Amino acid sequence: MCQAMLVSFLVCVGAATDSGNQLGGGTTMLVPIPVEMKAGSGGFTITSGTVVVASGPAVAEARKLVDGLAPAMGCRLQLADGGEPRDGAIVLRIDESLRQLGDEGYQLDVAVNRVLITGPKPAGLFYGIQSLLQMLPPAVFRQAPVVGASWVVPCVSITDYPRFGWRGLMLDTSRHFMPKTFVLKLIDVLALHKFNSLQLHLTDDQGWRIEIKKYPKLTEVGAWRDETVVGHAGKKPWKFDGRPHGGFYTQDDLREIVGYAADRHINVVPEIEMPGHARAAIAAYPELGCHPDQPLKPWTVWGVCPDIYIPTDKTIGFVQDVLTEVLALFPSKIIHIGGDEATKEQWKASPVVQARIKELGLKDEDQMQSWFIKQMDTFLAQKGRRLIGWDEILEGGLAPGAVVMSWRGERGGIAAAKEGHDVVMAPTGWTYFDYYQGPPEKEPLAIGGNLPLKKVYEYEPIPKEMKPEEAKHILGAQCQLWAEYLPTTRQVEYMAFPRAAAMSEVLWSPAERKDYTAFLVRLAQDLKRLDILDWNYRKLDKE
Ligand code: ACM
Repeated sequence: MCQAMLVSFLVCVGAATDSGNQLGGGTTMLVPIPVEMKAGSGGFTITSGTVVVASGPAVAEARKLVDGLAPAMGCRLQLADGGEPRDGAIVLRIDESLRQLGDEGYQLDVAVNRVLITGPKPAGLFYGIQSLLQMLPPAVFRQAPVVGASWVVPCVSITDYPRFGWRGLMLDTSRHFMPKTFVLKLIDVLALHKFNSLQLHLTDDQGWRIEIKKYPKLTEVGAWRDETVVGHAGKKPWKFDGRPHGGFYTQDDLREIVGYAADRHINVVPEIEMPGHARAAIAAYPELGCHPDQPLKPWTVWGVCPDIYIPTDKTIGFVQDVLTEVLALFPSKIIHIGGDEATKEQWKASPVVQARIKELGLKDEDQMQSWFIKQMDTFLAQKGRRLIGWDEILEGGLAPGAVVMSWRGERGGIAAAKEGHDVVMAPTGWTYFDYYQGPPEKEPLAIGGNLPLKKVYEYEPIPKEMKPEEAKHILGAQCQLWAEYLPTTRQVEYMAFPRAAAMSEVLWSPAERKDYTAFLVRLAQDLKRLDILDWNYRKLDKE
Protein backbone atom coordinates (compact mmCIF):
# COMPACT_ATOMS: atom_id res chain seq x y z
CA MET A 1 0.00 0.00 0.00
CA CYS A 2 1.46 3.40 -0.92
CA GLN A 3 1.85 5.96 1.85
CA ALA A 4 -1.03 8.06 0.56
CA MET A 5 -3.39 5.10 0.50
CA LEU A 6 -2.27 3.99 3.93
CA VAL A 7 -2.98 7.42 5.39
CA SER A 8 -6.34 7.49 3.69
CA PHE A 9 -7.12 4.00 4.97
CA LEU A 10 -6.19 4.94 8.52
CA VAL A 11 -8.42 8.00 8.30
CA CYS A 12 -11.29 5.85 7.01
CA VAL A 13 -11.02 3.28 9.79
CA GLY A 14 -10.72 6.03 12.38
CA ALA A 15 -7.26 5.03 13.52
CA ALA A 16 -6.05 6.57 16.74
CA THR A 17 -4.33 9.88 16.17
CA ASP A 18 -1.17 11.03 17.87
CA SER A 19 -1.66 14.53 16.62
CA GLY A 20 -3.77 16.02 19.37
CA ASN A 21 -6.40 17.53 17.09
CA GLN A 22 -9.86 17.86 18.59
CA LEU A 23 -12.88 18.56 16.46
CA GLY A 24 -13.81 22.18 16.99
CA GLY A 25 -10.51 22.82 18.75
CA GLY A 26 -8.77 24.02 15.63
CA THR A 27 -10.19 27.51 15.66
CA THR A 28 -8.37 28.16 18.93
CA MET A 29 -5.13 27.53 17.10
CA LEU A 30 -5.07 30.68 14.99
CA VAL A 31 -2.35 33.28 15.48
CA PRO A 32 -3.03 36.06 14.59
CA ILE A 33 -6.71 35.92 15.45
CA PRO A 34 -9.00 36.63 12.49
CA VAL A 35 -11.38 39.56 12.23
CA GLU A 36 -14.52 37.39 12.32
CA MET A 37 -14.90 33.72 13.01
CA LYS A 38 -18.05 31.63 13.42
CA ALA A 39 -17.50 28.03 14.49
CA GLY A 40 -19.78 25.35 13.10
CA SER A 41 -20.11 21.71 14.12
CA GLY A 42 -18.18 18.79 12.71
CA GLY A 43 -15.24 19.04 10.42
CA PHE A 44 -13.86 18.42 6.96
CA THR A 45 -11.38 15.57 6.73
CA ILE A 46 -8.57 15.96 4.24
CA THR A 47 -7.61 12.58 2.78
CA SER A 48 -5.47 11.50 -0.12
CA GLY A 49 -8.67 11.61 -2.19
CA THR A 50 -9.33 15.28 -1.51
CA VAL A 51 -9.06 17.39 -4.65
CA VAL A 52 -7.74 20.96 -4.65
CA VAL A 53 -9.64 23.04 -7.19
CA ALA A 54 -8.47 26.35 -8.63
CA SER A 55 -8.13 28.26 -11.86
CA GLY A 56 -6.19 31.26 -13.20
CA PRO A 57 -4.08 33.12 -10.62
CA ALA A 58 -5.50 30.91 -7.83
CA VAL A 59 -3.59 27.89 -9.20
CA ALA A 60 -0.21 29.11 -7.91
CA GLU A 61 -1.69 29.45 -4.41
CA ALA A 62 -3.42 26.08 -4.66
CA ARG A 63 -0.05 24.49 -5.46
CA LYS A 64 1.33 25.98 -2.25
CA LEU A 65 -1.45 24.23 -0.32
CA VAL A 66 -0.66 20.94 -2.04
CA ASP A 67 3.07 21.47 -1.34
CA GLY A 68 2.34 22.36 2.27
CA LEU A 69 0.26 19.24 2.92
CA ALA A 70 2.36 16.75 0.96
CA PRO A 71 5.23 15.88 3.34
CA ALA A 72 3.10 15.15 6.43
CA MET A 73 0.25 13.54 4.47
CA GLY A 74 2.65 11.45 2.46
CA CYS A 75 0.84 12.25 -0.77
CA ARG A 76 0.24 15.09 -3.16
CA LEU A 77 -3.40 16.06 -3.47
CA GLN A 78 -4.70 16.19 -6.99
CA LEU A 79 -5.14 19.66 -8.51
CA ALA A 80 -8.20 20.25 -10.68
CA ASP A 81 -9.40 23.17 -12.74
CA GLY A 82 -12.47 25.06 -11.56
CA GLY A 83 -13.87 27.44 -9.00
CA GLU A 84 -17.26 26.22 -7.82
CA PRO A 85 -17.64 24.53 -4.40
CA ARG A 86 -17.88 20.78 -4.72
CA ASP A 87 -18.00 17.74 -2.46
CA GLY A 88 -14.67 16.38 -1.27
CA ALA A 89 -12.77 19.41 -2.53
CA ILE A 90 -10.82 22.38 -1.24
CA VAL A 91 -11.68 25.16 -3.66
CA LEU A 92 -9.59 28.33 -4.00
CA ARG A 93 -11.16 31.13 -5.97
CA ILE A 94 -10.27 34.73 -6.74
CA ASP A 95 -13.45 36.71 -6.19
CA GLU A 96 -13.20 40.37 -7.12
CA SER A 97 -16.54 41.11 -5.51
CA LEU A 98 -14.69 40.74 -2.17
CA ARG A 99 -12.69 43.88 -2.96
CA GLN A 100 -13.75 45.41 0.36
CA LEU A 101 -11.49 42.89 2.13
CA GLY A 102 -8.42 44.52 0.57
CA ASP A 103 -5.57 42.88 -1.33
CA GLU A 104 -4.69 40.57 1.56
CA GLY A 105 -8.17 39.68 2.82
CA TYR A 106 -9.91 36.32 2.46
CA GLN A 107 -12.89 34.24 3.43
CA LEU A 108 -12.49 30.67 4.57
CA ASP A 109 -15.57 28.54 4.75
CA VAL A 110 -15.21 24.99 6.02
CA ALA A 111 -18.20 22.64 5.80
CA VAL A 112 -18.25 18.89 6.48
CA ASN A 113 -18.27 18.14 2.75
CA ARG A 114 -15.99 20.86 1.34
CA VAL A 115 -13.71 23.86 1.93
CA LEU A 116 -13.91 27.17 0.09
CA ILE A 117 -11.20 29.85 0.24
CA THR A 118 -11.98 33.08 -1.57
CA GLY A 119 -10.32 36.47 -1.77
CA PRO A 120 -9.98 39.35 -4.19
CA LYS A 121 -6.25 38.72 -4.74
CA PRO A 122 -3.78 35.79 -4.54
CA ALA A 123 -2.27 37.14 -1.28
CA GLY A 124 -5.64 36.67 0.42
CA LEU A 125 -5.83 33.06 -0.75
CA PHE A 126 -2.33 32.54 0.62
CA TYR A 127 -3.40 33.86 4.03
CA GLY A 128 -6.51 31.67 3.89
CA ILE A 129 -4.21 28.70 3.34
CA GLN A 130 -2.11 29.71 6.36
CA SER A 131 -5.26 29.77 8.50
CA LEU A 132 -6.32 26.38 7.13
CA LEU A 133 -2.90 24.89 7.94
CA GLN A 134 -3.01 26.38 11.43
CA MET A 135 -6.36 24.69 12.09
CA LEU A 136 -4.92 21.28 11.27
CA PRO A 137 -2.94 19.33 13.85
CA PRO A 138 0.54 20.90 14.27
CA ALA A 139 1.95 17.64 12.88
CA VAL A 140 0.94 18.95 9.45
CA PHE A 141 4.25 20.82 9.56
CA ARG A 142 6.30 17.64 9.80
CA GLN A 143 8.51 16.94 6.81
CA ALA A 144 7.80 13.19 6.60
CA PRO A 145 4.52 11.22 6.57
CA VAL A 146 2.71 11.22 9.91
CA VAL A 147 1.15 7.81 10.19
CA GLY A 148 -2.12 7.69 12.07
CA ALA A 149 -2.90 11.39 11.87
CA SER A 150 -6.37 12.54 11.00
CA TRP A 151 -6.33 15.75 9.06
CA VAL A 152 -9.59 17.27 10.22
CA VAL A 153 -10.34 20.97 9.81
CA PRO A 154 -13.17 22.12 12.08
CA CYS A 155 -16.18 23.65 10.37
CA VAL A 156 -15.89 27.40 10.55
CA SER A 157 -16.66 30.52 8.64
CA ILE A 158 -13.89 33.14 8.71
CA THR A 159 -13.75 36.63 7.26
CA ASP A 160 -10.32 38.12 7.67
CA TYR A 161 -8.09 40.98 6.57
CA PRO A 162 -5.14 42.83 8.10
CA ARG A 163 -5.31 45.98 10.18
CA PHE A 164 -1.98 47.26 8.80
CA GLY A 165 -0.30 46.97 5.42
CA TRP A 166 3.28 46.93 6.80
CA ARG A 167 3.74 43.91 9.07
CA GLY A 168 7.47 43.76 9.34
CA LEU A 169 10.50 42.26 10.95
CA MET A 170 14.08 43.44 10.55
CA LEU A 171 17.04 41.08 10.65
CA ASP A 172 20.51 42.51 11.25
CA THR A 173 22.83 40.41 9.12
CA SER A 174 25.79 42.75 9.56
CA ARG A 175 26.72 42.39 13.22
CA HIS A 176 26.53 38.64 12.84
CA PHE A 177 26.14 37.11 9.41
CA MET A 178 22.98 35.00 9.14
CA PRO A 179 23.24 32.08 6.71
CA LYS A 180 20.86 32.06 3.76
CA THR A 181 19.19 28.83 4.92
CA PHE A 182 18.25 30.55 8.15
CA VAL A 183 16.79 33.54 6.30
CA LEU A 184 14.60 31.10 4.33
CA LYS A 185 13.51 29.39 7.57
CA LEU A 186 12.65 32.79 9.04
CA ILE A 187 10.61 33.68 5.96
CA ASP A 188 8.54 30.48 6.39
CA VAL A 189 7.76 31.27 10.01
CA LEU A 190 6.94 34.90 9.22
CA ALA A 191 4.56 33.86 6.43
CA LEU A 192 2.79 31.47 8.78
CA HIS A 193 2.11 34.46 11.05
CA LYS A 194 0.96 36.65 8.15
CA PHE A 195 3.92 39.06 8.19
CA ASN A 196 4.50 40.64 4.79
CA SER A 197 7.79 42.53 5.11
CA LEU A 198 11.34 41.43 5.92
CA GLN A 199 13.96 44.16 6.18
CA LEU A 200 17.52 42.92 5.74
CA HIS A 201 20.07 45.17 7.43
CA LEU A 202 22.89 44.41 5.01
CA THR A 203 25.62 46.91 5.80
CA ASP A 204 27.10 48.39 8.94
CA ASP A 205 30.39 49.13 10.68
CA GLN A 206 31.10 45.49 11.50
CA GLY A 207 30.36 43.85 8.15
CA TRP A 208 29.17 44.41 4.56
CA ARG A 209 26.93 41.52 3.50
CA ILE A 210 25.84 42.13 -0.10
CA GLU A 211 27.95 41.35 -3.15
CA ILE A 212 28.37 44.46 -5.30
CA LYS A 213 29.95 43.61 -8.65
CA LYS A 214 31.39 47.07 -9.28
CA TYR A 215 33.11 47.22 -5.88
CA PRO A 216 34.43 43.72 -5.04
CA LYS A 217 36.44 44.90 -2.04
CA LEU A 218 33.18 45.63 -0.19
CA THR A 219 32.90 41.89 0.41
CA GLU A 220 36.57 40.87 0.01
CA VAL A 221 37.54 43.30 2.79
CA GLY A 222 34.33 44.68 4.27
CA ALA A 223 32.61 41.34 4.94
CA TRP A 224 35.25 40.15 7.41
CA ARG A 225 36.35 41.42 10.78
CA ASP A 226 39.39 40.10 12.62
CA GLU A 227 37.63 39.36 15.90
CA THR A 228 34.71 40.36 18.09
CA VAL A 229 34.40 41.86 21.53
CA VAL A 230 33.44 39.29 24.17
CA GLY A 231 30.63 40.07 26.60
CA HIS A 232 28.86 43.40 26.77
CA ALA A 233 30.68 46.16 24.88
CA GLY A 234 29.61 48.62 27.59
CA LYS A 235 31.95 46.84 29.98
CA LYS A 236 35.62 47.80 29.69
CA PRO A 237 38.39 46.81 29.36
CA TRP A 238 37.31 45.05 26.19
CA LYS A 239 38.33 41.45 25.61
CA PHE A 240 38.25 39.87 22.16
CA ASP A 241 37.59 36.35 20.92
CA GLY A 242 40.62 36.40 18.60
CA ARG A 243 38.89 34.76 15.64
CA PRO A 244 37.56 36.16 12.36
CA HIS A 245 33.84 36.59 11.67
CA GLY A 246 32.14 37.21 8.38
CA GLY A 247 30.27 36.15 5.31
CA PHE A 248 28.08 37.71 2.66
CA TYR A 249 25.22 36.98 0.30
CA THR A 250 26.06 36.65 -3.36
CA GLN A 251 23.68 38.36 -5.75
CA ASP A 252 22.32 34.91 -6.65
CA ASP A 253 21.69 34.23 -2.94
CA LEU A 254 19.75 37.47 -2.66
CA ARG A 255 17.71 36.71 -5.78
CA GLU A 256 16.87 33.37 -4.19
CA ILE A 257 15.86 34.98 -0.88
CA VAL A 258 13.75 37.62 -2.64
CA GLY A 259 12.04 35.01 -4.84
CA TYR A 260 11.39 32.65 -1.92
CA ALA A 261 9.89 35.51 0.08
CA ALA A 262 7.78 36.78 -2.84
CA ASP A 263 6.32 33.30 -3.21
CA ARG A 264 5.14 33.72 0.38
CA HIS A 265 3.86 37.26 -0.20
CA ILE A 266 6.72 38.80 1.76
CA ASN A 267 8.50 41.86 0.41
CA VAL A 268 12.22 42.03 1.20
CA VAL A 269 13.36 45.56 1.99
CA PRO A 270 17.13 46.01 1.67
CA GLU A 271 18.83 48.42 4.04
CA ILE A 272 22.06 50.06 2.93
CA GLU A 273 23.30 52.32 5.74
CA MET A 274 24.49 55.88 5.09
CA PRO A 275 26.09 58.28 5.85
CA GLY A 276 27.06 56.70 9.22
CA HIS A 277 27.36 53.00 10.11
CA ALA A 278 29.69 52.88 7.11
CA ARG A 279 33.00 51.69 8.55
CA ALA A 280 33.04 48.32 6.74
CA ALA A 281 32.66 50.14 3.38
CA ILE A 282 35.31 52.69 4.33
CA ALA A 283 37.64 49.84 5.32
CA ALA A 284 37.25 48.50 1.77
CA TYR A 285 37.59 51.88 0.05
CA PRO A 286 39.35 54.39 2.38
CA GLU A 287 38.69 57.31 0.00
CA LEU A 288 35.01 57.11 1.04
CA GLY A 289 35.92 58.16 4.58
CA CYS A 290 37.01 61.42 6.17
CA HIS A 291 40.56 60.15 6.89
CA PRO A 292 41.68 58.31 3.73
CA ASP A 293 45.28 58.43 4.96
CA GLN A 294 44.37 56.36 8.05
CA PRO A 295 43.12 52.98 6.77
CA LEU A 296 40.54 51.21 8.93
CA LYS A 297 39.35 47.67 9.37
CA PRO A 298 35.73 46.59 9.95
CA TRP A 299 34.84 47.38 13.53
CA THR A 300 35.23 44.70 16.20
CA VAL A 301 33.11 46.29 18.94
CA TRP A 302 29.49 47.40 19.30
CA GLY A 303 28.17 50.92 19.71
CA VAL A 304 28.00 54.11 17.68
CA CYS A 305 31.08 54.35 15.50
CA PRO A 306 32.44 57.80 14.56
CA ASP A 307 33.39 56.77 11.00
CA ILE A 308 31.16 58.36 8.38
CA TYR A 309 31.19 58.73 4.59
CA ILE A 310 32.74 61.93 3.29
CA PRO A 311 29.97 63.68 1.31
CA THR A 312 31.92 64.24 -1.91
CA ASP A 313 30.54 63.73 -5.42
CA LYS A 314 32.69 60.60 -5.59
CA THR A 315 30.98 59.14 -2.50
CA ILE A 316 27.54 60.05 -3.79
CA GLY A 317 28.46 58.30 -7.07
CA PHE A 318 29.67 55.24 -5.16
CA VAL A 319 26.50 54.97 -3.07
CA GLN A 320 24.31 55.43 -6.13
CA ASP A 321 26.29 52.73 -7.98
CA VAL A 322 25.66 50.41 -5.02
CA LEU A 323 21.96 51.31 -5.03
CA THR A 324 21.78 50.62 -8.77
CA GLU A 325 22.85 47.02 -8.12
CA VAL A 326 20.53 46.84 -5.10
CA LEU A 327 17.55 47.96 -7.18
CA ALA A 328 18.28 45.27 -9.76
CA LEU A 329 18.09 42.63 -7.01
CA PHE A 330 15.21 43.90 -4.88
CA PRO A 331 11.89 44.76 -6.54
CA SER A 332 10.74 46.41 -3.27
CA LYS A 333 9.03 49.75 -3.94
CA ILE A 334 10.63 51.02 -0.72
CA ILE A 335 14.39 51.05 -0.18
CA HIS A 336 15.96 51.66 3.24
CA ILE A 337 18.98 53.96 3.41
CA GLY A 338 19.55 53.84 7.17
CA GLY A 339 20.35 57.42 8.17
CA ASP A 340 20.57 56.76 11.91
CA GLU A 341 23.27 57.62 14.42
CA ALA A 342 25.48 59.49 11.97
CA THR A 343 27.81 61.30 14.38
CA LYS A 344 29.12 64.50 12.87
CA GLU A 345 32.48 64.89 14.67
CA GLN A 346 34.51 63.88 11.60
CA TRP A 347 32.50 66.26 9.41
CA LYS A 348 33.05 69.09 11.92
CA ALA A 349 36.80 68.46 11.92
CA SER A 350 37.20 68.00 8.17
CA PRO A 351 38.19 71.07 6.07
CA VAL A 352 36.91 69.21 2.98
CA VAL A 353 33.46 68.75 4.51
CA GLN A 354 33.34 72.29 5.86
CA ALA A 355 34.18 73.62 2.38
CA ARG A 356 31.47 71.38 0.95
CA ILE A 357 28.89 72.74 3.40
CA LYS A 358 29.79 76.29 2.30
CA GLU A 359 29.83 75.42 -1.39
CA LEU A 360 26.33 73.94 -1.15
CA GLY A 361 25.04 76.92 0.86
CA LEU A 362 24.13 74.75 3.84
CA LYS A 363 23.90 75.90 7.44
CA ASP A 364 25.49 73.02 9.32
CA GLU A 365 26.27 69.30 9.45
CA ASP A 366 22.60 68.35 9.99
CA GLN A 367 21.76 70.09 6.73
CA MET A 368 24.71 68.28 5.16
CA GLN A 369 23.17 64.95 6.17
CA SER A 370 19.78 66.11 4.91
CA TRP A 371 21.39 67.07 1.55
CA PHE A 372 23.03 63.62 1.37
CA ILE A 373 19.73 61.85 2.01
CA LYS A 374 17.93 64.07 -0.52
CA GLN A 375 20.42 63.01 -3.21
CA MET A 376 19.33 59.44 -2.52
CA ASP A 377 15.67 60.34 -2.45
CA THR A 378 15.90 62.02 -5.87
CA PHE A 379 17.89 59.09 -7.24
CA LEU A 380 15.40 56.51 -5.96
CA ALA A 381 12.40 58.56 -7.09
CA GLN A 382 13.86 58.72 -10.62
CA LYS A 383 13.95 54.92 -10.59
CA GLY A 384 10.35 54.70 -9.39
CA ARG A 385 11.21 53.76 -5.81
CA ARG A 386 10.64 55.39 -2.43
CA LEU A 387 13.19 56.07 0.27
CA ILE A 388 12.69 54.97 3.85
CA GLY A 389 15.07 55.82 6.70
CA TRP A 390 15.35 55.83 10.48
CA ASP A 391 13.79 58.92 12.04
CA GLU A 392 17.03 60.97 12.05
CA ILE A 393 16.34 61.60 8.37
CA LEU A 394 13.77 64.19 9.51
CA GLU A 395 16.55 66.38 10.90
CA GLY A 396 17.48 69.22 8.59
CA GLY A 397 14.46 68.65 6.32
CA LEU A 398 13.15 65.65 4.41
CA ALA A 399 12.14 65.09 0.80
CA PRO A 400 8.34 64.94 0.43
CA GLY A 401 7.82 61.30 -0.61
CA ALA A 402 10.19 59.79 1.96
CA VAL A 403 8.95 57.33 4.58
CA VAL A 404 10.12 57.53 8.20
CA MET A 405 10.85 54.55 10.43
CA SER A 406 10.32 55.82 13.95
CA TRP A 407 12.71 54.10 16.35
CA ARG A 408 13.59 56.70 19.00
CA GLY A 409 10.14 56.32 20.51
CA GLU A 410 7.06 57.49 18.64
CA ARG A 411 8.08 61.15 18.51
CA GLY A 412 9.69 60.96 15.07
CA GLY A 413 6.71 59.10 13.67
CA ILE A 414 4.26 61.62 15.05
CA ALA A 415 6.27 64.56 13.67
CA ALA A 416 6.66 62.85 10.30
CA ALA A 417 2.93 62.06 10.00
CA LYS A 418 2.11 65.69 10.83
CA GLU A 419 4.35 66.70 7.92
CA GLY A 420 2.46 64.26 5.68
CA HIS A 421 5.10 61.51 5.53
CA ASP A 422 4.18 57.86 5.73
CA VAL A 423 5.54 56.16 8.82
CA VAL A 424 6.52 52.69 9.97
CA MET A 425 6.53 52.46 13.75
CA ALA A 426 9.60 50.77 15.24
CA PRO A 427 9.95 52.30 18.71
CA THR A 428 12.62 50.74 20.92
CA GLY A 429 10.27 50.28 23.89
CA TRP A 430 7.94 47.88 22.06
CA THR A 431 9.66 46.58 18.96
CA TYR A 432 13.35 46.08 19.82
CA PHE A 433 13.54 42.33 20.09
CA ASP A 434 17.22 42.54 21.03
CA TYR A 435 15.99 43.71 24.46
CA TYR A 436 15.69 41.27 27.37
CA GLN A 437 12.41 39.39 27.58
CA GLY A 438 12.83 38.43 31.25
CA PRO A 439 15.09 39.18 34.22
CA PRO A 440 18.61 39.68 32.79
CA GLU A 441 20.18 37.34 35.36
CA LYS A 442 18.05 34.51 33.95
CA GLU A 443 18.45 35.37 30.28
CA PRO A 444 21.26 35.04 27.76
CA LEU A 445 23.32 38.23 27.36
CA ALA A 446 21.38 40.91 25.48
CA ILE A 447 21.94 44.54 24.63
CA GLY A 448 19.81 45.76 27.58
CA GLY A 449 16.26 47.05 27.94
CA ASN A 450 13.19 45.11 28.99
CA LEU A 451 10.58 43.92 26.53
CA PRO A 452 8.48 41.05 27.83
CA LEU A 453 5.87 39.28 25.69
CA LYS A 454 2.91 41.05 27.29
CA LYS A 455 4.35 44.48 26.54
CA VAL A 456 4.72 43.57 22.87
CA TYR A 457 1.15 42.28 22.80
CA GLU A 458 -0.14 45.50 24.32
CA TYR A 459 1.61 47.70 21.77
CA GLU A 460 -0.65 50.12 19.88
CA PRO A 461 0.99 51.45 16.69
CA ILE A 462 -1.28 54.50 16.44
CA PRO A 463 -0.33 56.99 19.15
CA LYS A 464 -3.32 58.28 21.13
CA GLU A 465 -2.62 61.92 20.33
CA MET A 466 -2.78 61.37 16.57
CA LYS A 467 -5.62 62.91 14.60
CA PRO A 468 -7.35 60.53 12.16
CA GLU A 469 -5.83 62.23 9.11
CA GLU A 470 -2.35 61.76 10.62
CA ALA A 471 -3.08 58.17 11.68
CA LYS A 472 -3.66 57.33 7.99
CA HIS A 473 0.10 57.76 7.51
CA ILE A 474 0.93 54.91 9.89
CA LEU A 475 1.63 52.07 7.46
CA GLY A 476 2.22 49.61 10.29
CA ALA A 477 5.08 48.53 12.51
CA GLN A 478 8.16 46.37 12.54
CA CYS A 479 10.09 44.25 15.08
CA GLN A 480 13.86 44.70 15.17
CA LEU A 481 16.36 41.86 15.58
CA TRP A 482 19.60 43.78 16.01
CA ALA A 483 22.31 41.15 16.20
CA GLU A 484 25.20 42.56 18.23
CA TYR A 485 24.36 40.06 20.97
CA LEU A 486 22.82 37.41 18.72
CA PRO A 487 25.88 35.41 17.64
CA THR A 488 23.91 32.34 16.50
CA THR A 489 20.73 31.70 14.59
CA ARG A 490 19.40 29.78 17.65
CA GLN A 491 19.76 32.99 19.62
CA VAL A 492 17.94 34.95 16.89
CA GLU A 493 15.12 32.39 17.11
CA TYR A 494 15.03 32.77 20.89
CA MET A 495 14.68 36.54 20.70
CA ALA A 496 12.19 36.49 17.81
CA PHE A 497 9.48 34.19 19.21
CA PRO A 498 7.09 34.20 20.87
CA ARG A 499 7.31 38.01 20.70
CA ALA A 500 6.83 38.03 16.91
CA ALA A 501 3.64 35.98 17.39
CA ALA A 502 2.38 38.73 19.71
CA MET A 503 3.36 41.36 17.16
CA SER A 504 1.56 39.47 14.40
CA GLU A 505 -1.66 40.00 16.29
CA VAL A 506 -0.87 43.68 16.93
CA LEU A 507 -0.42 44.17 13.19
CA TRP A 508 -3.04 41.89 11.70
CA SER A 509 -5.96 41.68 14.13
CA PRO A 510 -8.46 44.42 14.98
CA ALA A 511 -7.47 46.21 18.21
CA GLU A 512 -10.79 45.24 19.79
CA ARG A 513 -10.15 41.53 19.16
CA LYS A 514 -7.01 41.57 21.30
CA ASP A 515 -7.14 39.71 24.61
CA TYR A 516 -3.86 38.63 26.20
CA THR A 517 -5.29 35.70 28.17
CA ALA A 518 -7.00 34.28 25.10
CA PHE A 519 -3.85 34.90 23.07
CA LEU A 520 -1.83 32.77 25.49
CA VAL A 521 -4.22 29.85 24.91
CA ARG A 522 -3.79 30.14 21.15
CA LEU A 523 -0.08 30.74 21.54
CA ALA A 524 0.30 27.38 23.31
CA GLN A 525 -0.87 25.77 20.04
CA ASP A 526 1.39 28.03 18.01
CA LEU A 527 4.38 26.93 20.07
CA LYS A 528 3.60 23.29 19.21
CA ARG A 529 4.00 24.28 15.57
CA LEU A 530 7.25 26.08 16.34
CA ASP A 531 8.50 22.96 18.16
CA ILE A 532 7.93 20.93 15.01
CA LEU A 533 9.55 23.63 12.90
CA ASP A 534 12.61 23.33 15.19
CA TRP A 535 12.35 26.95 16.28
CA ASN A 536 14.23 27.76 19.50
CA TYR A 537 11.61 30.14 20.93
CA ARG A 538 11.77 31.41 24.50
CA LYS A 539 9.56 29.34 26.80
CA LEU A 540 6.63 31.09 28.43
CA ASP A 541 6.94 32.22 32.03
CA LYS A 542 4.91 30.17 34.49
CA GLU A 543 2.41 32.64 35.97
C1 ACM B 1 18.88 52.13 15.43
O1 ACM B 1 18.54 51.35 16.33
N1 ACM B 1 20.08 52.69 15.44
C2 ACM B 1 18.00 52.41 14.31
